[in-house]
Amino acid sequence: MIQTVVWYSTLILILFIAGVFLWVAIQSKKESDYEPVVKKWYKARSIYGILLVIIMLVVSIYTLRELPFNKPSHVEGSEVISVDAEAFQFGFELEQNEFSVGDTVEFNVTTRDVTHGFGIYDPDMVIIGQTQAMPEYTNTFYVTFEKPGTYQVLCLEYCGLAHHLMMDEIIVK
Ligand code: CUA
Repeated sequence: MIQTVVWYSTLILILFIAGVFLWVAIQSKKESDYEPVVKKWYKARSIYGILLVIIMLVVSIYTLRELPFNKPSHVEGSEVISVDAEAFQFGFELEQNEFSVGDTVEFNVTTRDVTHGFGIYDPDMVIIGQTQAMPEYTNTFYVTFEKPGTYQVLCLEYCGLAHHLMMDEIIVK
């Protein structure tokens, strides 16, 4: 879907730019006073500049609000289940694999050997949280399980030949 949109908008922009070039090439044959032309296009440039800033602001606000950065890591004062998770070549060892809907879990993630990824995907395979599993270091992140089902834990860092087989399941009831 996005590829199609990008493809068509690129095509339209290329045609537009080609059109501008063609127009300039045709116009260049005409002679006119320099002064009024400069004034006219300085004004156009100011309007274009202001428009660009407004468009960029709107696009930025609209696209960046989806980022999880300013979502609270967990609700203040609520119960948090702390779970140690260890990654290894090639699997995960979770202290606890079963949770209830609404549980907020603090995952403390580390690794036995090399660096791995630790990503949690909901039953629709949408990623809901991730961190790196680093040797001799514990990364903590919070996930609230909002719907029942089987969640997948996948490694998100190439870590060896069986990287693609490195997965685990979390059951939420
Ligand atoms: Cu562990 Cu990829």
